Amino acid sequence: MANSRSKLSAQMGQVNPFRVMTVMHRAAEIEQQGQKVVHMEVGEPDFSTALPIVNAAKRALDRGLTQYTSAPGIFELRKAIVKRYEQKHGVVISPDRVLITPGASGGLNLLANMLVSPGDGVLLTDPAYPCVRNFIYMLSANPQLIPVSMEQNFQPTLDQLQQYKTDKTVGLWLASPSNPTGTILEKDRLEAARDWSKANGSHLLVDEIYHGLQYVEELPSILEVDDSAFVVSSFSKYFGMTGWRLGWIVVPEEFVEMANILAQNLFISAPSIAQYAALAAFTAEAEAIFEQRRQAFSERKAYLADELSSLGFKISDNIQGAFYFYANISNFSDNSESFCKELLDSHFVAITPGTDFGEYKANEYVRIAFTTSMEDLKLGVDRMRIALT
Ligand SMILES: Cc1ncc(COP(=O)(O)O)c(C=O)c1O
Repeated sequence: MANSRSKLSAQMGQVNPFRVMTVMHRAAEIEQQGQKVVHMEVGEPDFSTALPIVNAAKRALDRGLTQYTSAPGIFELRKAIVKRYEQKHGVVISPDRVLITPGASGGLNLLANMLVSPGDGVLLTDPAYPCVRNFIYMLSANPQLIPVSMEQNFQPTLDQLQQYKTDKTVGLWLASPSNPTGTILEKDRLEAARDWSKANGSHLLVDEIYHGLQYVEELPSILEVDDSAFVVSSFSKYFGMTGWRLGWIVVPEEFVEMANILAQNLFISAPSIAQYAALAAFTAEAEAIFEQRRQAFSERKAYLADELSSLGFKISDNIQGAFYFYANISNFSDNSESFCKELLDSHFVAITPGTDFGEYKANEYVRIAFTTSMEDLKLGVDRMRIALT
């Protein structure tokens, strides 16, 4: 082990495992022993991919569309994405600016490589989706973590941007809606982030992967206010295609050529069958299914909000998108990892410790996902009631 460790690149020391995977692994062990586990840890919809998409994939397979596509992805899909931005956000962008990637993960990796040099600083929130921090470490650069609290809707203030930037800061990376907190950036906050980034010579990147899964009337895209921002998005969440590994990025015109070169080098192209399948995600038939599912998530959210509060979790009353509660457990514990372990080992409810998402008050928080059926959520709540009262 010591020998193989010494062969790893220096950056690997900073790349953390994804603790939710450890929770999932332990849950699988418990299930093998014949126990039913309630899964409130996973960050993916419990619904399988909508039938119109599955059928489109079958047709693509029958037609033998199994080769690489062009590096930025098939033109029809990029056009469909452009049309969606026009319909949902009133913004007109050229399909050239859209690149299809292997999940948002592929997009984040590409953008990190394109925009971040060794020694650079990138402003991120703490808590945030953990892989982002790790992508930055992998480039020998530094995440500059801004602690965000429930009182500020888990999004950074302008004062904090000023406070946490250094002369090394090259970018500000935000997420709306956010994982793990489910909060969004309203238009005025997007405008403020744009103005701050321009004034400070930073690039601005917004992860919009939970767009579509929102519980508010207005969920603006950064592209509505800033044509020079970078957007990361995905077919994983609203479109229910996690395992197909398909996402996209939108880059400013002057970055299109470099982004294409990186796509060629990093992954050649996104999976071809997934791309042809995803064309069906933009049909009225598929949209009706996604909307039904969003409604189901909304009902689960309302149910869990009441139950978690009555159990003694402190939660935000402003979950605006995604499918998570980032719940404060200070009424029960000051160690989120042992709290989650006990809940799983003794009560068979799987949730994720806050320590997966950063350091700031991480031991006081857990992420509870409503990505399982109402029936299972009720079982999970019953089990938590026994565990906590
Ligand atoms: C905020 C955020 N960004 C990016 C990703 C990566 O998603 P994918 O690669 O499946 O598109 C996730 C996955 O949970 C996420 O929560």
